[in-house]
Amino acid sequence: MYIYKAAVIGAGTMGAGIAQVITYSGLPVILRDVTQEAVDRGLATVRKIYQGRVDKGKMTAAELEQKMALVSGATDDTGFSDVDIVIEAIYEDLEAKQKLFQALEAVCPEGCIFASNTSSLPISAIASATKKPDKVIGMHFFNPAPVMKLVEVIPGLGTSQETIDDVVLFSESLRKIPIRVQECAGFLVNRLLMPYLNEAAIALQEGAASAKGIDAALVTLGMPMGPLTLFDMVGIDVSVKVADILHDAYGTRATAARILRELDQAGRHGLKNGAGFYDYADEKKGDLDSLIQKVQAEGTTKTKFSANRIIMPMINEAVISLQEGVASAEDIDIAMMAGTGFPQDKGGPLHYADQIGVDVVLSELEALCKTLGDRFWPAPMLKRMVQGGYLGQKSGKGFFQY
Ligand code: 3HC
Repeated sequence: MYIYKAAVIGAGTMGAGIAQVITYSGLPVILRDVTQEAVDRGLATVRKIYQGRVDKGKMTAAELEQKMALVSGATDDTGFSDVDIVIEAIYEDLEAKQKLFQALEAVCPEGCIFASNTSSLPISAIASATKKPDKVIGMHFFNPAPVMKLVEVIPGLGTSQETIDDVVLFSESLRKIPIRVQECAGFLVNRLLMPYLNEAAIALQEGAASAKGIDAALVTLGMPMGPLTLFDMVGIDVSVKVADILHDAYGTRATAARILRELDQAGRHGLKNGAGFYDYADEKKGDLDSLIQKVQAEGTTKTKFSANRIIMPMINEAVISLQEGVASAEDIDIAMMAGTGFPQDKGGPLHYADQIGVDVVLSELEALCKTLGDRFWPAPMLKRMVQGGYLGQKSGKGFFQY
């Protein structure tokens, strides 16, 4: 099915970003939210993204207006009778998403695809509330949506092959890289990203290094921004929700750092409200140091910092995901480069493991396990690979052939 018209529900940062991506490809889109104020804010966000391109001389003011003419704001069902795909980007609440799709079924055409941009809620559960689970699918964009090339395509248990194919083609028409991912908590990228981000937060609360020191070490390794800066960009409130869903699914290795919850409770939700791990506004909402001291007073031991401590949990989770068949080794690496800016020269976490040696990854994880705890327990596949001589580039075979 060719997609001629789309709708995005939820005009926040992600919803507006997705609407911009759709209009940029030349398709009309409705951007809907509950209040006119929210819709106007969303439309202003889309305009601001285009204005940035005009300011850089990458498009003319007339082209900006042509693109803006493709996006219409709505607070009701007007215009939904001929949309081919609805992408919801509302807050992370299963019941809210289920009710939304139920209501949309009554106003959208029979063949309309219902895509969810959820970070981590199960697609099958969202679909279970609808009459057409074959038409429900996960279509997960990454922040900032206009820049990050990846779209995770996540079929639920009842999603039809036709819907998967349509969403893959649609994503390509948006000039994105669609990667099909098996449904699991956090899907692929958040599942790998969160242990990395979380370990940075744990290192901070344990006094291993300062926020700036931690971020700088990972930027030196080639990441486009430090993990604590990224936490602030994603949102501390959103991150706590994702972390809790991962903990529910994967147990203690995915226990959220205490400091994350403290920040959330202190109202430091990140860049969007002026404070998170860093301060972005003049008006301060408490301060990070006193929150760290509070966590430390309730019992933490001082630990040592290393960039390996932060990156190894991501590699380990990549191997666990590979074991579970969440995605192929190639797709895992492409997804992490296109979705999080994992350095191209390292080729993704599994190519990176092959570069430094699978045996080295295993021994690093074993050492971290002894000093910092069982959350670093190595994936069984790593041991099998080392025993079998799959050491990476140096032995000519690892996660890939050389
Ligand atoms: N909106 C639109 N465009 C933006 C933007 C935004 N918020 N931020 C940056 N850009 C554009 C810039 O305009 C610039 O465009 P140009 O190349 O046409 O001039 C381009 O992106 C590069 O921007 P900058 O030069 O200002 O900055 P950087 O080179 O430092 O890149 C970044 C910024 C792309 C954000 C980079 O730091 C990055 O890749 N960070 C990692 C982001 C990441 O990991 N995202 C995934 C988070 S997880 C997630 O979203 C899942 C969810 O479920 C939680």
